[in-house]
Amino acid sequence: KKTTPASGLPLAFHGTAIHAKSADELQILENCFILVGKDGKIQAFQAGVEPDQINSLVSENGYAPDVFPVKHLKRGDFLCPGFVDTHNHAPQWAQRGVGRGISLLDWLNKVTFAHEAKFEDPEYAKRTYASCVAGFLQQGITTASYYGSHHGEATRILADICFEKGQRALVGKCNMNRNAPDWYRDSSVSESLRETHELIQHVHQLDPGFQLVKPIITPRFAISCEPELLDGLGAIAREHPDLPIQTHFNEAKQEIEFTNQLFPEFQTEADLYQKFNLLNGRSILAHCIFLQEEEMRRIQELGCGVAHCPIANTTMQEFMIAPVREYLRRGIKVGLGTDSGGGYSSSILDAMKQAFIVSNAQQTKTEGRDPALSLSECFFLATLGGAQVCGLDDRIGNFAVGKEFDALEIHTLDLDRPGVMCLVEEEDTIDVIFEKFLMTGDDRNIARVYVSGRSVKA
Ligand code: GUN
Ligand code: FE
Repeated sequence: KKTTPASGLPLAFHGTAIHAKSADELQILENCFILVGKDGKIQAFQAGVEPDQINSLVSENGYAPDVFPVKHLKRGDFLCPGFVDTHNHAPQWAQRGVGRGISLLDWLNKVTFAHEAKFEDPEYAKRTYASCVAGFLQQGITTASYYGSHHGEATRILADICFEKGQRALVGKCNMNRNAPDWYRDSSVSESLRETHELIQHVHQLDPGFQLVKPIITPRFAISCEPELLDGLGAIAREHPDLPIQTHFNEAKQEIEFTNQLFPEFQTEADLYQKFNLLNGRSILAHCIFLQEEEMRRIQELGCGVAHCPIANTTMQEFMIAPVREYLRRGIKVGLGTDSGGGYSSSILDAMKQAFIVSNAQQTKTEGRDPALSLSECFFLATLGGAQVCGLDDRIGNFAVGKEFDALEIHTLDLDRPGVMCLVEEEDTIDVIFEKFLMTGDDRNIARVYVSGRSVKA
């Protein structure tokens, strides 16, 4: 039943490739030759290759020329790295966008916990998570950092489904033992920690070496966790220095005030999570709206990553802006998150556009001190930035020999299906086509999705 992550067949392409080398360097490379080995890794990557040079490159890489299948991308089509969703609640898949106009804590109590509680039923979990993972793959999300529900079994099912469907994923059992109804919380600290240990064991057996799926330590946020639970999770983080950690961080004023009441001994949330050994270079901090100067300094020093979720931040109750330009200026890692279902959309293209819009608002608010993000910076956040936040930038995020081939094949100009394509015109340059894709494209333009060389879009 187990599927190998890699395709088992070598793949080769000739055509345009677009990727980010850094936040301020977008490369649009034409006539690229890309060869993916049987291990799913990029074996050759070279721009400016004329069609008559392909055969010799194929044979240099140990394959028989002429018979080797090379896919020639048409004008207007291109490859780009797969999208990374740094913050996603899998059990909120069926409630995306539900419960607008109420505060975060009311939304959790009145809408979300009751919904997540359904994942007690493993059959419901199988069905809904299969639809969820397929849905995110459909959107070109080749890597997702998932919060599961608090249920151990459902979360193991989520890990299995990501592995079977071939999505790269960080999967966390959501730890929460207070400030939630007794029908939707861990009944004790020891049970909560045991479920996390079981998930780690389970994924270790499923995918030894965590090639595709990796467990992630997931305290929902300090409000949901007694100090003893945070302590235990910090101990697991110490015991497993390879595992990432995720939590919600300075998301809303109401949440920060309640956290202060529960933990008056700490000045800031950075202090709190650091004290419990949950703040370090492996931490993915969702939202990061209201950081104090001292916290920004600290998360930069520690190398924590920010999961910027501009759709949830602007559509739940208030319009909240994470100061992404400031984070980038300080050298803090930033990626994008759908925050599905606090965010209504499962599309990283939508998250990119909203990041762009919100950064325009921030530019106005700061009277130009925080210049808006460019579209290519938003694309960086969606790819390499997200890979950095997830601790995977040595393996994915852009194209380089030795990295895994997690990629999207984008089709823009298809005269047979004019209704579904970006409005590309014959005279458009590739720069314009790319801009049109970012602003007007959607999953219908994402013709193929590859994870580690395996084609994974249904
Ligand atoms: N804080 C704690 N839980 C959640 C959640 O599920 N979504 C969001 N947006 N914030 C949270
Ligand atoms: Fe969230």
